[in-house]
Amino acid sequence: MRGKLPHFVPYQGSKRLLAPQILGFMPRMFRRLVEPFAGSAAISVAVAQERRTEQFVINDINAPLVMMLKEAIEHPQRLIDDYMVIWQQQFELGEEHAQHFFDIRDRFNQGDTSPAVMLYLLARCVKGAIRYGRNGKFNQSPDKRRHGISPENLAPNVRAIAELLHGKATFMSLDYHEVLDMAQPGDLVYMDPPYQGVSNVRDHRYIAGVDFDEFVRHIEKLDRRHIDYIISYDGECGTREYGQRLPSHLKCRKVMLNAGLSTQATLLGQRMTTFEALYISHLLGEKKV
Ligand SMILES: C[S@@+](CC[C@H](N)C(=O)[O-])C[C@H]1O[C@@H](n2cnc3c(N)ncnc32)[C@H](O)[C@@H]1O
Repeated sequence: MRGKLPHFVPYQGSKRLLAPQILGFMPRMFRRLVEPFAGSAAISVAVAQERRTEQFVINDINAPLVMMLKEAIEHPQRLIDDYMVIWQQQFELGEEHAQHFFDIRDRFNQGDTSPAVMLYLLARCVKGAIRYGRNGKFNQSPDKRRHGISPENLAPNVRAIAELLHGKATFMSLDYHEVLDMAQPGDLVYMDPPYQGVSNVRDHRYIAGVDFDEFVRHIEKLDRRHIDYIISYDGECGTREYGQRLPSHLKCRKVMLNAGLSTQATLLGQRMTTFEALYISHLLGEKKV
């Protein structure tokens, strides 16, 4: 990997740190990268940095998030300027700066989901974790100890990402299976669906859940259409496993990636490494990468 990956948006579940390991299982070159669950698009950024393809499909069901990525890539300076205005306002409130987050959150929930507003909420909320309530309103709280990335630190990262992806990315905000239907042989599909909650309940950390059986049926379709894919799915920490395994009839190769020490276990005074599973489609596994 050529140097550090630029990133500007903290995002829970981001694959930025795992990107070098994940790219190790991708072909050296391919026609197009399709990311149906792009989130902060960390994998697209990493693939662009390594110049493995010149075409990207960046999709996430969260439309304001996708609009923010699009703005960063197509109009980086405008996003930096708009963010600077919002970011600076919080200091006018002195000690009460967290109140500014609630004002911006209200603005978002009243319909102003513009890129700089989305970015500010992500930059300032707890753990970069987007949470929406049952009423569909953004309800995550501010991280009271931080002010969110400063415009000075934001700018070089946004510019670097824009340089890598400008003119190469198509942006969408569809349910993932509609994007899978658009994939073609020669593409590489990288999927990082939201973690499943136990007993398959909808996961409120993200705005949509993904039904396991339906997901498996869509993957079977990719196999039938000879489309290569890689999936980040279940994982384990100590003796605890989370997420349902993908069924063996898919014939994927499964590898476990070292995701580092579990922060939750560390808080409890234990040292436990988290492993995340990566499934590689059998057709891709048979190719020489
Ligand atoms: C684990 S995160 C992806 C993180 C990403 N790999 C990164 O590096 O930032 C899963 C993403 O899937 C999106 N998502 C959830 N349900 C979806 C659906 N049905 N279709 C498309 N995207 C969905 C969520 O909004 C979330 O951003």
